[in-house]
Amino acid sequence: MTLNGRKILLGVTGGIAAYKTPELVRRLQEAGAEVRVVMSAGAEAFITPLTLQAVSGHRVRTHLLDPEAEAGMGHIELARWADDVLIAPATAQVIARLAHGFAADLLSTLALATEARIWIAPAMNRVMWDAEAVRENCRMLVSRGVKLVGPGVGDQACGEQGPGRMLDPDEIVAELGGSEPVLAGLRFVVTAGPTHEPIDPVRFLGNRSSGRMGFAVAEALAEAGARVDLVAGPVKLSTPPGVQRLDVTTASEMLEVVTARMENADGFVGVAAVADYRPESLADDKIKKSGQPLTLQLVENPDILATVARRRPKPFVVGFAAETRDLERAARGKLEAKGADLIAANRVGHDRGFDTEDNTLEVFGAERHWNLGSRAKRILARELVAIIAEQMQQDGNGKKQ
Ligand code: C5P
Repeated sequence: MTLNGRKILLGVTGGIAAYKTPELVRRLQEAGAEVRVVMSAGAEAFITPLTLQAVSGHRVRTHLLDPEAEAGMGHIELARWADDVLIAPATAQVIARLAHGFAADLLSTLALATEARIWIAPAMNRVMWDAEAVRENCRMLVSRGVKLVGPGVGDQACGEQGPGRMLDPDEIVAELGGSEPVLAGLRFVVTAGPTHEPIDPVRFLGNRSSGRMGFAVAEALAEAGARVDLVAGPVKLSTPPGVQRLDVTTASEMLEVVTARMENADGFVGVAAVADYRPESLADDKIKKSGQPLTLQLVENPDILATVARRRPKPFVVGFAAETRDLERAARGKLEAKGADLIAANRVGHDRGFDTEDNTLEVFGAERHWNLGSRAKRILARELVAIIAEQMQQDGNGKKQ
C-alpha cells in the first residue's frame, strides 16, 4: 500500500473518533504521504491542535480568518496544495455543510476551494447515520464524486452497536491507497451468495449468506485489474463496478455457469455458500399438510470448488470455509480435500460472519498462514486479493501451468 508523495489535507471535525487522528496521521505518513491538518472548532473539544502539530510536523490551522496563518500558507494555497482532502472523523454537521456548499469555517471553505479528491470518513451514532437527512446529504456528495470511506459497523462510544463507527486508521489508509493493477490481464470467476434448492413451487432449501463477502472479493479483484465474472446466487446486492454478473439459483446452475466461464479463466474464488444437498425431486404442486411427519429425500450437490480445482491446466483456486469450531484443522483439511491453493476461513454462528458488514478472516496456504483479523468485508477482500496476487506470482506469474 503506497501513498508515496501524496499531499493529504486532513480535516478533523468534532466527534469522539477525533482521538484516533494522531494515529491516522502517522499511518498516512508511513504510507508515504505528506500530511497537513485543519481542525474545526468542535474537534478542538476532543483533541488539541498541539498534538496534531507534533505528529504532522506542521502548524495546524483552525480558523479561516487568521491573519498570521494566512500570511503563511493561505487557505486558497492550502486548497491548491492538496492532492486529497480527507475529512476524518466527519460529523453529520460537516457532511451537511459540504452537501449544501456552506463556507462557514476554514474546512468547509477549503472543500469548496479545492480541486483535490475529497474523502469523508463518517463517524456518528447509528441512528444519526440512518437519518434521512444524512442519507440524502451523503447521496448528494457521492453523486458529485466525493468518496465515502466507511463507516464501519461495531461498538459505538454511545454504548450502541451498529453502522456509524469511523474506520480504523489502517482501513482508511487502505481506502485512500486503492489498488495497484497487480492482476491486470488475468481472468477470474467468483461465486457468491447462497443457492436455493427448490422443494416445491413455493419452497426451497437455503442459507443465510448475504453475498457481501463474495461481492467484495469480486470488486477487489476488478480494482486490481482482473476481468471478473461474478456468478451470484439469489442476493439483494448491486453489481460492483467493472464486474460481469451472472445470476443463478441452484448449485447445479452455478456449476454449469462456472464451468462455461472457467474456459478462459486463470483463477477461481468460491465464496458462495453452496447448498451441500438438494431435494431428490421437485414436487410439481405445493406440498400440503397431511398430519403426518414429512420426509424429504436429499441428494448431494456437486462440489463446484473441487470440480474447478481438477481442471487442467490448473487455475489458481481459492475456497472459503465457514466453520463454527476447529477453524485451522477444517481449513487445512479443505485445502487438501478440494485441491485448493488457498482457503480463507471464518468463524460463523451467533451473528458472526453471515449477513454482517464485518468478518474475521484467516487464510491458509500449503506452507503459509495469514491472520487478517476482524475488519470490514471490503478491506478483508482487498487483503485477500493482495495475497492471491502474491501467490500467483510465486507460482509463475499467474499464467496457467
Ligand atoms: O465443504 P464446504 O462447503 O465447507 O466448502 C466451502 C467451500 O467450497 C467454499 O469455497 C464454497 O464456495 C465451496 N463449495 C462449492 N460447492 C459445493 C460446496 C462448497 O464450490 N457444493
